[in-house]
Amino acid sequence: MIRRVLSFETSCDDTSVAIVRDGGFVDAVVSANQDLAHAPFGGVVPEVACRNHTLTILPLVEECFKKAGLTLEDIDGIVVTNRPGLVGSLLVGLVTAKSLALAWGKPFLGVNHLEAHLLAPFLRDDQYQPPKDFTFPFLALAISGGHTHLYKVEALGKYKILGRTLDDAAGEAFDKFGKMLGLGFPGGVAVDRMARGGNPKAFQFPIGLKHQDNLNYSFSGLKTSAMRMIESIPDVEEKKADLCASFQEAAVDALLWKLQIAAAQTRLRKIVLTGGVSANSRLREKAEALAREKNWQLVIPPVRYCTDNAAMVGYAGLVRMQRGEFSTQDLGPSPSYFPGDFIDESRT
Ligand code: KG4
Ligand code: ZN
Repeated sequence: MIRRVLSFETSCDDTSVAIVRDGGFVDAVVSANQDLAHAPFGGVVPEVACRNHTLTILPLVEECFKKAGLTLEDIDGIVVTNRPGLVGSLLVGLVTAKSLALAWGKPFLGVNHLEAHLLAPFLRDDQYQPPKDFTFPFLALAISGGHTHLYKVEALGKYKILGRTLDDAAGEAFDKFGKMLGLGFPGGVAVDRMARGGNPKAFQFPIGLKHQDNLNYSFSGLKTSAMRMIESIPDVEEKKADLCASFQEAAVDALLWKLQIAAAQTRLRKIVLTGGVSANSRLREKAEALAREKNWQLVIPPVRYCTDNAAMVGYAGLVRMQRGEFSTQDLGPSPSYFPGDFIDESRT
């Protein structure tokens, strides 16, 4: 019986190791953030990312066991993100997981990173637990630096893509906008912070695909419009807070517009926001107001489980292993998800 797993997340630039047990309880999760290593380049450099994963992954395993007060005897299996992501980064986690599985004689399983984000609301620890009556089915908006997808989560392993971005991911748009204003990398948090002192109505930015009859997103028009706006303003420095607040307002309104259409169309009232961008304070504020108005049960996992982390990966693997799913040693990394991972019902 699989009751507790050691898990790895290295799909992009966060190295994370966790131990998760039955029911989604997180015994420990430890992560190494690489922002400082990528900041000089203004974005994630794949080779720098995998080199840093190599440096930190095994020390994190030791730290994770120590933090949980457990040993490898307590672990029944090993879980790792093997898709989608940067192949060099995925390789580090995958080869580590496969090697430890072989050396320790434990089963292992490769999981889809996006499925892990979708199941993050089910995690629990001393400070967080999902609402008591929270179950499938629900609607989930997964918003990060690499993804902006709207899903109908029907059951474990049954995920329908209802909409997706046709160009930039929401986090990518925040990061590019932050870069235009010289706010450093990643720009999302800096834009959020700067926006707090600004007027969201100071500038008008477009909402991509607002009037199209589908659930897709587009952030490239917003980005271009922001670039033109910045070029046309003589005193950008003084207007930074207003620019951030207005840009953020447009991005948040775009995210929530299609979300509320999806909720109406599917008649689902359980709504999940997940991924790094769900840390955005204005998004949380407006989503909570919308939830009160529409009578939604809104679940936004704490930031530590929204951003890339191995706890969500461990949980996704644990429940699948409990259903008898295991990987074999010939499993490789994949830059995209597997055909059977999602049912694509998005329309263009
Ligand atoms: O899920 P995540 O940690 O990593 C992946 O991309 O998978 O998400 C990171 C993204 C970055 O683009 C970052 O700028 C954005 O989430 N982000 C935010 C905020 N915090 C993180 N965007 C807007 N407001 C925030 N407070
Ligand atoms: Zn992610």
